[in-house]
Amino acid sequence: MTDYLKCEQIPYSALAAEYGTPLYVYSQQEITAALNQYQQAFASLQPLICYAVKANSNLSILRHFARLGCGFDIVSGGELQRVIMAGGDTGKTIFSGVGKSSAEIEFALNNNIRCFNVESLPELERINTIADRLGKIAPISLRINPDVNAHTHPYISTGLKANKFGIAYHDVIKAYQLAATLPHLKITGIDCHIGSQLTDLSPLIEALERMLLLVDKLAEHNIELEHIDLGGGVGIVYQNENVPDLAAYATAVARLLSKRNLQLMLEPGRSLIGNAGGLLTTVEYIKQGEEKNFVIVDAAMNDLMRPSLYQAYHGILNVSSTTANEFVADVVGPICETGDFLAKDRTIAATAGDLLLIQNAGAYAFSMASNYNTRCRAAEVLVNGTEHHLIRQRENLPELLANEQNCLKAI
Ligand code: LLP
Repeated sequence: MTDYLKCEQIPYSALAAEYGTPLYVYSQQEITAALNQYQQAFASLQPLICYAVKANSNLSILRHFARLGCGFDIVSGGELQRVIMAGGDTGKTIFSGVGKSSAEIEFALNNNIRCFNVESLPELERINTIADRLGKIAPISLRINPDVNAHTHPYISTGLKANKFGIAYHDVIKAYQLAATLPHLKITGIDCHIGSQLTDLSPLIEALERMLLLVDKLAEHNIELEHIDLGGGVGIVYQNENVPDLAAYATAVARLLSKRNLQLMLEPGRSLIGNAGGLLTTVEYIKQGEEKNFVIVDAAMNDLMRPSLYQAYHGILNVSSTTANEFVADVVGPICETGDFLAKDRTIAATAGDLLLIQNAGAYAFSMASNYNTRCRAAEVLVNGTEHHLIRQRENLPELLANEQNCLKAI
């Protein structure tokens, strides 16, 4: 049996038999290894690595990152609640996002988070007012928009002038000067995030260079910073992408930060978990259409939105000992939309009942899943060597319908 039929020591078929499909399967050892790569590459800089919770926010996964010493990058009160429940350190948690509500800011202040990554002037004022009411001082960093092109899918590119993110480069000094006048804020850092699934290092380096120009200008205005946060991590291989070398990234960052007294922070998500997970699905039917063949599986766009939303490629392996011959087909789910596909024009050998593994579905898969078509979200399993643990139960219909059923009597 070849290795790809197993997650660590456990055959995929055994996991499917025990937990059913669709099923997300994660390798704990691969998660640890991915984090080690960052820790080793950046060792000389001793960065605070804040795992981006949005990539995969399962409580057991967060607990694993917490035990490995990570901080967290959150974008909602809900994600903060997860970090707390998982035993994460709120003192190593940073709060990003353009639309923090008053309730979320209050929740974060009461839990003494490390820093608010602030995205606008009204947000500065709001945090100051709430901190005043609570008798607290809020640590803040300003997310700058460096106006560099990250060369990634337009939906996940964030560092251009036209994007909603960050404070416009030319307004940054004024924004820090305003922050310095607000008594319940403490300026601690500067941050940016230019986009996700980056396959080229140069925009990341360019963004850092542009941030350092601002750090120097701020020093001229007597605003001294303690940390610099470079945002999300590097891209991963889904098909044949040339992904940036972490050691080269770290070397470039170390060169630019040398002789500066700035604590480095990083917010990687995808590259810590994306390759460590897969989505197991069973073939329901093979259908020969007039122009195309379809492999119809029990997973759908509600389980993995990336192909429909970003035309993303995910490798698909048949992990059963199939006897089928290869053919070209679209791999599609049961959802009533033409956009419900997991792969297009893929050469695949599959027959009804076979088990397929949709690869590299550890990041932005379950965390973006929905209940569209009243489909229960799938279960999640974490594998460690010869052990496997259910880390999220499959949803069921009574639970899914309860919130509406309770309201039915009002009509
Ligand atoms: N920090 C901030 C402020 C972010 O907005 C993000 C991702 C990250 C860190 C983590 O970036 P990463 O290391 O994962 O590249 N759903 C899309 C990806 C959206 C990314 C949003 N922000 C996808 O499936 O490709």
